[in-house]
Amino acid sequence: MRVGLLTGGGDCPGLNAVIHAVVKKGINHYGDEFVGFLEGWRGVIENNTTPLTLEKVDGILTLGGTILRTSRTNVRKIEGGIEKCIATLKANKIDALIAIGGDDTQSVTNALVQAGFPGVGVPKTIDNDLNGTDVTFGFDTAVSIATEAVDRLHTTAEAHNRVIVCEVMGRDAGWIALTAGVAGNAHVVLVPEKPIDIDHVCALLKYNHDHGKKYGIVVVAEGAKIPGAGQATLGGKVDSFGHARLSGIGQALAELIEEKTCYETRSVNLGHTQRGGTPTAYDRMLSTRYGLAAIDLVHEGAFGRLVVLHGTKIESIPLAEAISKNRQLDESFFAIIDGLEPKI
Ligand code: F6P
Repeated sequence: MRVGLLTGGGDCPGLNAVIHAVVKKGINHYGDEFVGFLEGWRGVIENNTTPLTLEKVDGILTLGGTILRTSRTNVRKIEGGIEKCIATLKANKIDALIAIGGDDTQSVTNALVQAGFPGVGVPKTIDNDLNGTDVTFGFDTAVSIATEAVDRLHTTAEAHNRVIVCEVMGRDAGWIALTAGVAGNAHVVLVPEKPIDIDHVCALLKYNHDHGKKYGIVVVAEGAKIPGAGQATLGGKVDSFGHARLSGIGQALAELIEEKTCYETRSVNLGHTQRGGTPTAYDRMLSTRYGLAAIDLVHEGAFGRLVVLHGTKIESIPLAEAISKNRQLDESFFAIIDGLEPKI
């Protein structure tokens, strides 16, 4: 078969490991040929392609970024976008497309499938918020980077008797904040799924202070909100899929904490460091398993599906299910934060 491959949305550690696995198994086991579309859906709209060979993917498993590059091009915002994509795919004699991306990318894959073009999806996002899979690749790497940063903040905060607020990514879900916050032994963890109670935050920091811990580490998800103060966005900017560009809650929170507690407070925003660099061993393995399963789905003719992790098994679900809603933290995860906090 002649298989098209693209990576869409924000980049994410593990994208190259998926490409590596798909191409290796496709060529070695099925005798496939591969065409890479460059910069996500933009490459399909603009017919910007590159052949993907065994030589091209040799050694890329461990690399961050994506050799196909990526973009947040929203096909459905382009007049006749879906038809244009199908025309390019047909012009390149593509039998099936594998799209590696999060909910935005997969919503386009699903639209292509609805329009009759065979496609399958691979779930990518550091945010871990894609419905229907236990884990998306890239999440483990982002959490490792954020946890290491939080570890490092402890010593500098302690040396200065300061509170340091660390803002992490995650969009409207608190998976990165919760995991890095708990693993990094933060004193306060704040997630989008629960409105921030600023008085409770200050009370926790004060309780610790009064009990000998003269410094504080607060991990806050970029999507967390302070009631009344709204959500921090980059001047109201939205991306091509209409998502608010979030950033700045860490700084706003640090200012409020300092004002209310009089503790010297600083903030740090980890930003895109969480997406850069090489994937962890876990993400290399998960990406590889996803890639192998995706090319198998293509050869089974199981189109319109997304490969997913359920427990320890790689399975698949309909794309429509994956994009129907975002996966957020629930009570069982709030209980972890609650269980570690002192009762005050
Ligand atoms: O979805 C992944 C993500 O890194 C989010 O955590 C973050 O809000 C967003 O992408 C940032 O997007 P961009 O790289 O376009 O600024």
